Amino acid sequence: MTITLTMLSLIGSDKTSIYSLAARPLIFRLPPEGAHKVAETALRVPGLWNSFRIANGTGDRKLDTNLAGIELPTPIGMAAGFDKDCKVLGSILNLGFGFVTGGTVTLTPRPGNPKPRMIRVPEQKALMNALGFPGQGLEPVIKRMKKSQRNHDRVMLSIAGTIEEEIFECFRRAQSLTSGIELNISSPNTAGLRIFHQPARLRGLIEGLVVEKQVPLFIKLPPWPRNDENRREMLKLAATAVDAGVDGLVIANTHPIENSRLKVGRGGLSGAPLFDHTELMIADVQAQVQGQAAIIACGGVTTAEHVWLLLSKGASAVQLYTSFIYEGPGLPARINKRLSKLMNKAGITSVADISGPPPALN
Ligand SMILES: Cc1cc2nc3c(=O)[nH]c(=O)nc-3n(C[C@H](O)[C@H](O)[C@H](O)COP(=O)(O)O)c2cc1C
Repeated sequence: MTITLTMLSLIGSDKTSIYSLAARPLIFRLPPEGAHKVAETALRVPGLWNSFRIANGTGDRKLDTNLAGIELPTPIGMAAGFDKDCKVLGSILNLGFGFVTGGTVTLTPRPGNPKPRMIRVPEQKALMNALGFPGQGLEPVIKRMKKSQRNHDRVMLSIAGTIEEEIFECFRRAQSLTSGIELNISSPNTAGLRIFHQPARLRGLIEGLVVEKQVPLFIKLPPWPRNDENRREMLKLAATAVDAGVDGLVIANTHPIENSRLKVGRGGLSGAPLFDHTELMIADVQAQVQGQAAIIACGGVTTAEHVWLLLSKGASAVQLYTSFIYEGPGLPARINKRLSKLMNKAGITSVADISGPPPALN
């Protein structure tokens, strides 16, 4: 009973959560990867997170979302990278996420880059990471996903590889266990992924996957700077991917940075500083693909107002990761409830009707 009450209070109102007042200061005393392990262990406790389902905001039919044919109870998803080995997907959904992307999974196990490879930047509510796909590889992930049949309708899997054959094998073996596959060609921390930034190579890869595709296929692109040659290149890559047959685009991965606190000297920035740029990229890519593919917006999403802005710019759904680390397990529920309030204020009953700036709430 006490546990249930504590957990319900963690969900909180849309004001400050107990997590940010009490739990976060304790958890943040641990190094980031240690803190992640603690969170994962907590999320693995069987049944513990079921009580979140009562009050996570996903029962509100106004938030029902269609993402490239996948029916979701809310447009808010957990981004790839949080549950790399797919150990706690069900618990993540119970917190109020409409969907979760497991992985990124590679065909064989990988140790990742040397540590330190994950650093908090609390004053900006950001993270720097250079993990480089540490993971157990496809085999154990497939076993786990087979065991937890129940949630497949809202689970996507992110896959990656440095040659086509690796990606094809991950795709063939995993797709029937998921509601969608996210192809990651955009981690700034993994040598070899950039070969798929060549349009001809990317087209070949996607056309090969499309022949065997049974579930929607998404591709996660790197971010692009504004007013730059690189921006045109990335938009061309998005157009190539859509033309070759992907169902959706995830915009975008972490922003490449150089920093000597990371052992390998460079990595990806995530969290609050990314949001404004995410908004610009969604407008850019929507103008490019003009509704021919679904768009998942990712980068710095923290509030219901952020979700509103991104949906109004053309995204069908959003993903978040870093804000969850800073705001705690009640975040998706709080966003769901506030998004619903914003919709009530605007007098709309479907997320598909969201447009313009969000209304002001008291
Ligand atoms: C520690 C960490 C690990 C990540 N691992 C992956 C990954 O394995 N695959 C992937 O596609 N993105 C990965 N990402 C990127 C996130 O999915 C997301 O694109 C990025 O963090 C921006 O969203 P955010 O600002 O909400 O965190 C990772 C991000 C972080 C912070």
